[in-house]
Amino acid sequence: MKFFVDTAEISEIAELKDLGLVDGVTTNPSLIMKSGRDILEVTKEICDLVDGPVSAEVVSLTAEDMIAEGRKLAKIADNICVKVPLTWDGLKACKVLTDEGFKVNVTLCFSANQALLAAKAGATFISPFVGRLDDINIDGMDLIAEIRQIYDNFAFETEILVASVRTVNHVTQSAIIGADVVTVPPAVLKKLVEHPLTANGLEGFMKDWAKTGQNIL
Ligand code: G3P
Repeated sequence: MKFFVDTAEISEIAELKDLGLVDGVTTNPSLIMKSGRDILEVTKEICDLVDGPVSAEVVSLTAEDMIAEGRKLAKIADNICVKVPLTWDGLKACKVLTDEGFKVNVTLCFSANQALLAAKAGATFISPFVGRLDDINIDGMDLIAEIRQIYDNFAFETEILVASVRTVNHVTQSAIIGADVVTVPPAVLKKLVEHPLTANGLEGFMKDWAKTGQNIL
């Protein structure tokens, strides 16, 4: 399973890249707003830093304008993946842009039927938002399992990119279900390493080691 980082903060991406944890990056208008940066400038910097796909989202609502924005965003770098919303216009833009050879991530997916439409429109990635489904008391991970089954039934090549990840369990469940990609906020990614038994175990080893009076270096 690939790990994308869900942020537009250059320093966070750089830190995680040093650990080999960045197979790609996803951004959206809210993350660009949080960064306080110009979308074209910050996206270019991210593309220069990361080899994998970098999702940059269109902000128009008509297919025609989404296509124009997508073409402009795609000029930033070869690893740009144009992100479009899961609307009829977004699907139209997806079809045109993928036919032109661009990578397209269809975002704001909340149902299996929406994911089916995105695959039919040739999406490179489908982004189901699991956290936002959990927020309204619908298990987001059930949707990932449904999409996995549907895509496997018909050998769709669209990759399932689990988004709106809020917990470490979302990551575990994505891996168990067989999602292709999980895009994780840096704070959640850092929590993946934590376990109280690891911390307690290390403390015990350090106390005993001190009693030996030895050094390795
Ligand atoms: O990848 C989509 C993500 O940024 C949305 O997350 O937590 O705002 O639902 P959230």
